[in-house]
Amino acid sequence: MKETDLRQLLNDMTLEEKIGQLVQLPGYFQQEGAVTGPAGDMGLTQNDLRFAGSYLGIIGAEKIKKLQTAFMEQHPHHIPLLFMADIINGYRTVFPIPLAQGCTFDPGLVEEGASIAAREAAAAVIHVTFSPMADLVRDARWGRVMESTGEDPYLNGQMAAAMVRGYQGDSVQQKGNIAACLKHFAGYGAPEGGRDYNNVELSPRTLREDYLPAYQAAVDAGCEAVMTSFNTLDRIPSAANEWLLKEVLRKEMGFSGMVISDWNALEELMAHGIAADQKEAAFLALRAGVDMDMTSPIYTRNLRQLVEEGKVPEQWVDESAWRVLTLKNKLGLFEKPFKDANEKDENALLLSTAHRQAALECAEKSFVLLKNEDRMLPLLGDEAAFIGPYVDSRYLNGAWSIFADDQDTVTIKTALSHYSKTRNIPTAPGCPINDPDQPIMGFQKHFSPDPCDPEAALRDAMILAKQAKKVVLCLGEHRECTGEAASRGDITLPKCQLRLLDEVSKVTQNIIVVLFGGRPLDIRPLKEKAKAILAAWLPGTEGGNAVVRTLLGECNPSGKLSMCLPYCVGQLPIHYNHLITGRPFHGDHHDGRFGSKYQDIPNDPLYPFGYGLSYTTFSYSPVRLSAKSMTKQGNVTASVTVTNTGACFGTETVQLYLRDLAASVARPVRMLKGFRKVALAPGESKEVSFTVSEAMLRFFGLSMRYASEPGDFDIFIGPDSHTENKARFSLE
Ligand code: GLC
Repeated sequence: MKETDLRQLLNDMTLEEKIGQLVQLPGYFQQEGAVTGPAGDMGLTQNDLRFAGSYLGIIGAEKIKKLQTAFMEQHPHHIPLLFMADIINGYRTVFPIPLAQGCTFDPGLVEEGASIAAREAAAAVIHVTFSPMADLVRDARWGRVMESTGEDPYLNGQMAAAMVRGYQGDSVQQKGNIAACLKHFAGYGAPEGGRDYNNVELSPRTLREDYLPAYQAAVDAGCEAVMTSFNTLDRIPSAANEWLLKEVLRKEMGFSGMVISDWNALEELMAHGIAADQKEAAFLALRAGVDMDMTSPIYTRNLRQLVEEGKVPEQWVDESAWRVLTLKNKLGLFEKPFKDANEKDENALLLSTAHRQAALECAEKSFVLLKNEDRMLPLLGDEAAFIGPYVDSRYLNGAWSIFADDQDTVTIKTALSHYSKTRNIPTAPGCPINDPDQPIMGFQKHFSPDPCDPEAALRDAMILAKQAKKVVLCLGEHRECTGEAASRGDITLPKCQLRLLDEVSKVTQNIIVVLFGGRPLDIRPLKEKAKAILAAWLPGTEGGNAVVRTLLGECNPSGKLSMCLPYCVGQLPIHYNHLITGRPFHGDHHDGRFGSKYQDIPNDPLYPFGYGLSYTTFSYSPVRLSAKSMTKQGNVTASVTVTNTGACFGTETVQLYLRDLAASVARPVRMLKGFRKVALAPGESKEVSFTVSEAMLRFFGLSMRYASEPGDFDIFIGPDSHTENKARFSLE
């Protein structure tokens, strides 16, 4: 529709209709008798439902075509509904969780995965996905770390922009594309205590230096919507934070699209204690600039009265309604209200061979090889027994894979039957996936305790362990232990799994662990007792194939940690780009008492950000600089020569870090500013160069002006964030 016609439509709409555009209803309202059911509980009437702007979580071409047709027929101006849903890491073909996708350090791969998710979701008539989640994370107690691409601002920005490009393509109107809704704005990943929905305390400088860059990258990539976060920032809930949404998001960051609240967040303004009643909640949210109210009754039940009483200018309603209508128009819904709805496509696209292949490749490249002593891996032939609760588990999708069917997932056991030569690989569960006193509270469904009899399972497993040359233990947290509302104070493996590890380690030293789960865990026992550890995260539909292909050497792991694995929960929050403090501790406890350290644990994580091994080895030459200094108009080229010093083909992610040695404010000990993946045959060398520009050196200085300052800088180029391969240059 032409903009003039859209403007005319807005002018012709009644206040009730315009308010209706600001309302998103939960999909379950479409169940029979909804108004007497959940909708009625929210005080919504049939009339409220007839003006709604959007539904959340309804899928399926046939169902949506019926709903959209009926809805538009009864709407006074026949305005189409906007269908939005959570497509976080794939729709029916499930990709690795975003934390694992971050470990690929491959934006192109992540973009392709998002594009496939969009094609599948669009055929099922999703118009907008609530993704990318660009929240920076530093605390593995928070269950939603699985949805983030990690602890680094630069990597998160690369990944968020890649997802936006993948979902939206060149135009959201084109077939197979959907709009991206960036979330959760802002700073949701830093809740106090790692406890979901908790308060967030960030200084303005830390917010801007560490947390906003990834959101900015998604806005710059053109995301069409932004979702506010549940948390308070400076004691103001985002859904009522006018400074955050208007000053920062719209003016400073240049976002002009639609802002939607998170689930029922408007009603929660009362729980936060900043709205005395529903009317005040409606006033605060609309004034702050929340265009659409996700699944709460606040706008529906209060805005009309507020406007009629003159407490809310109708202009506010018009502006928000305009942004909602504009998004619908960009999607082409006025001309094609079903957009890509097509049952034939839906069946042909979902879980297609090509999509499964892409999910397999992404999973393989997301795995991080943490340890591999005595050439435990790759397995040579069928020399190993596979033991553990993940050997035959279909729960390889992340908790947000809500539209997927676990029956589509390839288990490790199934994959073994495909890939192993002798087909009689011994397997056993060995123990339940979780301790009986730790029932799994499912995100989408409740899980009954694992039926596995611990004693019998252990006994059977030990028989296999004693006979096998190597034992592959497939262990990890249940997928429902991460995701929303899944914060945990204890990030160790379940006791029953640690007991299995302990018992197996009594009969063999040749232990390989494949570790599953959605968060970095305290895996000290694994590091102590296993000779090899492969972090597989929650790898998705093709997870079993990806694990077996990797273990058998069909592919060489190349993933690098997007979030460090802490020594233990006591270190949290922890991140590599920390400040050095006035009493830096360099790891030697004999340095005396008065250093910034713990008395009982190290400062360093067990495995640092950017870390990951390969089946081959790589060497790095010293860093070479094109000059020892640069002007603000100039740049410096930093290079290394990387050599494959091992016996098989491999891919290394070469990482560039910078450190500003002295500035008007304290600066991190290092910051990721670039990375390059380089594929090398055995013995092959390649030069890898990075151009260091003045823009890379900018930060929020004493006056909060974003600029560089003259002085010395260290450039690090190496295999992870702990590299000491560096050279110094100065900015004049
Ligand atoms: C949830 C989540 C958000 C999700 C939304 C819709 O509460 O916080 O990430 O997109 O509701 O399901």
